Amino acid sequence: MCGIIGYSGILDAKDVLLDGLTSLEYRGYDSCGICIFDENNKFHIIKNIGKVESLRPLVNKEFPPTLSSHSGMGHTRWATHGGVSSENAHPHKAGKVFLIHNGIIENYSELKSQYKLDNKLQSETDTEIVAYVLDYLYNKQNFDPLKSIRELTQLIVGTYSFLICFEDKPGSIYAVRKVSPLVCATSLSGSFLASDLTALIPYTKTFSVVDENTIIEINPTGIISYDLNTLQKTELKQETITWDIDSAKKGGFEHFMMKEIHEQPTAIDNTIRPRITNDGLINFFDDGIEDNSIFKNINKIQIVACGTALHAGTVGARLFQSKILIPIETYIASEYRYQNTLVDDKTLVIIISQSGETVDSLSSLKKAKAENAKTISIVNVKGSSIARESDCVLYTHAGPEIAVASTKAYTVQVALIYLLFCHIAFVRDRVDESFVKKFTKNLYDTIPILQNLLQNKNQIKQVAKYISKSNDAFYIGRSLDYVFSLEGALKLKEVSYIHTEAYAAGELKHGTIALIEDGTPVICVCTQKDVSKKFLSNVEEVKARNAFVILIITEGIEYNKSISDICITIPKINDDFSVFPVAVITQLIAYYVAYAKKLDIDKPRNLAKSVTVE
Ligand code: F6R
Repeated sequence: MCGIIGYSGILDAKDVLLDGLTSLEYRGYDSCGICIFDENNKFHIIKNIGKVESLRPLVNKEFPPTLSSHSGMGHTRWATHGGVSSENAHPHKAGKVFLIHNGIIENYSELKSQYKLDNKLQSETDTEIVAYVLDYLYNKQNFDPLKSIRELTQLIVGTYSFLICFEDKPGSIYAVRKVSPLVCATSLSGSFLASDLTALIPYTKTFSVVDENTIIEINPTGIISYDLNTLQKTELKQETITWDIDSAKKGGFEHFMMKEIHEQPTAIDNTIRPRITNDGLINFFDDGIEDNSIFKNINKIQIVACGTALHAGTVGARLFQSKILIPIETYIASEYRYQNTLVDDKTLVIIISQSGETVDSLSSLKKAKAENAKTISIVNVKGSSIARESDCVLYTHAGPEIAVASTKAYTVQVALIYLLFCHIAFVRDRVDESFVKKFTKNLYDTIPILQNLLQNKNQIKQVAKYISKSNDAFYIGRSLDYVFSLEGALKLKEVSYIHTEAYAAGELKHGTIALIEDGTPVICVCTQKDVSKKFLSNVEEVKARNAFVILIITEGIEYNKSISDICITIPKINDDFSVFPVAVITQLIAYYVAYAKKLDIDKPRNLAKSVTVE
């Protein structure tokens, strides 16, 4: 969590930092701050609680247009140690050191007593303690930035990406990281450090991922990379940004979430097309998988992820276990790490992550590798930690997802896991060519269905108005519809703050039905024909308790019209592919409910886009 940016170059640093922080704000947004060197090499720290927009006027006041600045660093915070206050906002200053931090330092309390910091600290953060320790080391090491940073990394335990300035080294910004992400780039307008690419897109098309074993220095003339142990200069490996600047803007939509919902048809197409041949078969040649032995010599598949990414994996597992005919287990990453999951060299572990930085997913990947599993990741952000650590990476091509609530990343993850599992079933001789061809055709056919759905949103707005007045809501479904409901409920609760539960419809009467009161909204998902009769009886049961029933049903499934208060029909579609239209409808419901409640749709409270703390 937290977004960090550093800049040194010819542009006005305050604008670069504030614009960069705005792009990174989806990583954390409870407070923010910057520190900059002015043209006289004097440092200014300006910080505040709230979002970047509230920092801008303070910066402009301190920095009139007549005072220029060409280097500095900024931070947007998701509180971990210490509440939301301007004292706890970064940057922190200790002696000659200015420091910003994304991550968590575990041995902060030992450091605090060891360096006798009790009476010095202004904040409750672990970061300020690190700043004091570094200042001590900087003095001890005769004001040598590299030696003092190296020694610091030997003393601290935890995860971090730090940007550091020293009062007596104006123009230079140093960086070092462990686990928490950091990229750097240089262009004609200067050199940059940032938590992720979104802050760099306006300035450059190439970037480097900061390696854990390096210290980076940026200054007006460029970037220098040093080996963390020897402090000798090293080469940086460059990568190319494939996203363009428009993809990180709202493009005429009021919110990123709505824009990203609309991007789904294109994102799915971009993700599946490179892996489907002209005759409708699947291959992963461009992903570096030419020999299919990784899929043959296994007897178990484990999918590990968090939140929405886990729901995407669960859809794939539910659909394909019966086709691949080996166990496909799904695990919450934060639990997987601490379980004996019986992994061996015949286990294929698939990690799914939009950001590629979710720390629990990353640690699960490392655990699976240590236990000799074969690993594949499904990731959206190029060059991210999970992508780099796994044996093989399959990128989703969704483009940047900025809204905190995941929408397009979910549907492309489902599309890609569908292709992967269909391919595994094929290479293991469980399905034949004609199955694969029909499957890929069905997958393509969902694209125009989504395009049509996105043209007709009025009915969903009406549904949302009703739900927005409730304190609680339920999603119910059976079989795959239950898995879709899990994602629908997550979306609704995270952006609307309405307490929403997803239940397997058959399980409802084992306790939860007690919560249904007059008018409680129950969103009933009915797209799986084989269980639709049984499911519709469960809908009758909630209706009999006076629930307000919103039925999402595939055209052609027979039902008693009086059981629903509102019915949203989706066009006829093969049951295995209804996940896509259901996802779009449930995302729109969540969006419009949050809209009706006038909430901050793209940045729901307490959340952050990239969860880099455990
Ligand atoms: C919900 C949401 C989260 C993420 C989860 C995993 O809308 O976005 O549940 O899906 O935090 O994030 P990634 O996919 O980046 O690992």
